[in-house]
Amino acid sequence: MRGKAEVFMAQVVSAREAGTAIRELVIDLGGRVYPYQPGAHIDVDVLVEGRQETRSYSLLPAPGGQYRIGVKLSDTSKGGSRYMWSLKAGDRLRVTSPENRFELQMDRPEYLVIAGGVGITPVVGMARELSRRGARMQFLYAARNRAAMAFLDEVEGLAGVNLRLFEDAEVAFIDAAAEIAALSPGAQLYICGPMPLLDAVRRAWVASDRPLPDLRYEIFGDSGLHPTEEFEVVSADTGLSATVARNESIIDALARVGVDVISDCRRGECGLCAVPVLEATAEIDHRDVFFSDAQKAEGTRMCACVSRAVGGRVVIDTGFRAAAPEGVPAREAEPATAG
Ligand code: FES
Repeated sequence: MRGKAEVFMAQVVSAREAGTAIRELVIDLGGRVYPYQPGAHIDVDVLVEGRQETRSYSLLPAPGGQYRIGVKLSDTSKGGSRYMWSLKAGDRLRVTSPENRFELQMDRPEYLVIAGGVGITPVVGMARELSRRGARMQFLYAARNRAAMAFLDEVEGLAGVNLRLFEDAEVAFIDAAAEIAALSPGAQLYICGPMPLLDAVRRAWVASDRPLPDLRYEIFGDSGLHPTEEFEVVSADTGLSATVARNESIIDALARVGVDVISDCRRGECGLCAVPVLEATAEIDHRDVFFSDAQKAEGTRMCACVSRAVGGRVVIDTGFRAAAPEGVPAREAEPATAG
């Protein structure tokens, strides 16, 4: 989603491996300077099988006139992360000015920050800023192992930051309820990581009766509660069907057979791509943050940009309507609503 962001060409200054399967890219903005706050992200144009697509990346702290991002090489990559990994110093790429939907509020007595894997990228700047301002911060960083903990050296030893590391097998021992219970009244929680971690933390936060807006999160669009499986999607309105490969979305698969689904963010946030589910032979793995837990449990709608079936077949209403007779407006796709 580009909103009012400016789009321009920039140039890779350096590329290096910052942790297992995480690559750091430093990007020169060609004389432009966009000061950005912790939690900001940019969109980048990538090439996937010759098609131009967009990916969003959180910004790490960087000198003025540069961006710095961390890119995870995804097992289920559609090709976007492979493209980003192919970039080297001197390559040019189209980027946007920063936007921020994960802003850090600076007026709280205490913070709990939880990062899973490459979810460290938006919170490195938060940790530095909170430390600089003398705030109290509990910082939990979970990754497969220590070698996979990218940018660790940038958050270790920060004053006021109580950093605790959790390797893969220990993630289950993060006691979210206890961590939240120990926080001062008015504290905020920031989390960026895979869906299972976010889900566990979100449940604990809701159970704690703390204000919901004080839980602030960002997720990876390709992260679900179940393994990523191939499945079949049927567009009931057109009768057309497609196989959704492990590395593509329902929207991509249906586009291949000529069925368009309206979308915007493609990150499971805006709900524009939400479609009614008419039938499903397997569980729906809701990977969005748009629907509430209750709506996900109902399973009557899903976000076609990120959510998937765990194998089997799902029949959806894509909102496609044949052209109406002249003078009669065609019915449009039902707008999605949260809550
Ligand atoms: S396009 Fe925004 S939630 Fe799918």
